[in-house]
Amino acid sequence: MKGLKDKVVLITGGSRGLGRAMALGFAGQGAPIAIVSRKLEVCQETAAEVEALGVSAFPYACHVGHWQELDTMVDAVYERFGRVDVLINNAGMSPLYESLDQVSEDLFDKIIGVNLKGPFRLSANVGARMMRGDGGNIINISSTASVRPSPNAEPYGAAKAGLNAITQSFASAYGPRVRVNCIMAGPFLTDISKAWDMESFKRQAERTIPLKRGGQPEEIVGAALYLASDEASFTTGALLAVDGGNH
Ligand SMILES: NC(=O)c1ccc[n+]([C@@H]2O[C@H](COP(=O)([O-])OP(=O)(O)OC[C@H]3O[C@@H](n4cnc5c(N)ncnc54)[C@H](OP(=O)(O)O)[C@@H]3O)[C@@H](O)[C@H]2O)c1
Repeated sequence: MKGLKDKVVLITGGSRGLGRAMALGFAGQGAPIAIVSRKLEVCQETAAEVEALGVSAFPYACHVGHWQELDTMVDAVYERFGRVDVLINNAGMSPLYESLDQVSEDLFDKIIGVNLKGPFRLSANVGARMMRGDGGNIINISSTASVRPSPNAEPYGAAKAGLNAITQSFASAYGPRVRVNCIMAGPFLTDISKAWDMESFKRQAERTIPLKRGGQPEEIVGAALYLASDEASFTTGALLAVDGGNH
């Protein structure tokens, strides 16, 4: 991909799953990475994998639902690397609940905090700095649950629909210097899928997913590299489904 070498990438939820796969994918292009999640040790493990590829990594512990922590984290990343060229809002969570009337206010706020509030604040803060600097790219990792919400994950679907919306509004607000795009992920086999009934998932995949399976984390990397690269220079505000055709 053109234009990624030496670009500084900040990825939330970069320690595991899709985030780890994207961190290694960008590192493979020669891009230094700030890897952010709650657990520093796990960020450090992924940072060591990135550094083994010959590029710098900056592991940092932060809760993306906590606005003030985000601002402190962004200051630390700018202090370490001097710039951010690509922000990937990837951290997310979709906790299970018994029934809709059992969803507590705390759980609702946490889901909105991690999946929507955090990405909003990071996009606003880092995007404004990109505008004042050399421009950049923001990629939001949403879900197909944003357009086909399930009753089993209602606050999550609503939060991700909000993430789609802010993708398009930030694309307008920060264009043309900053491009803002979104990947709507379908079912991927990460730690999230450990809570699924795999036999029933396989039967459902056979019926409803044209590619008839869940994705492997590495299968999101090409889309992220493309959106961040100069190859996507006329693409902003896009919602790209990477979901095995499951729509
Ligand atoms: N896997 C799927 O089927 C699927 C489908 C659609 C969309 N997605 C979306 O894709 C993204 C990545 O999912 P994944 O499957 O890779 O999940 P995962 O394997 O559970 O990894 C989640 C990552 O986010 C971090 N994280 C979670 N809560 C956080 C918080 N409050 N603050 C900071 N970091 C936090 C985790 O690290 P710590 O635990 O250290 O914080 C971890 O690095 C999410 O936005 C998810 O909604 C996934």
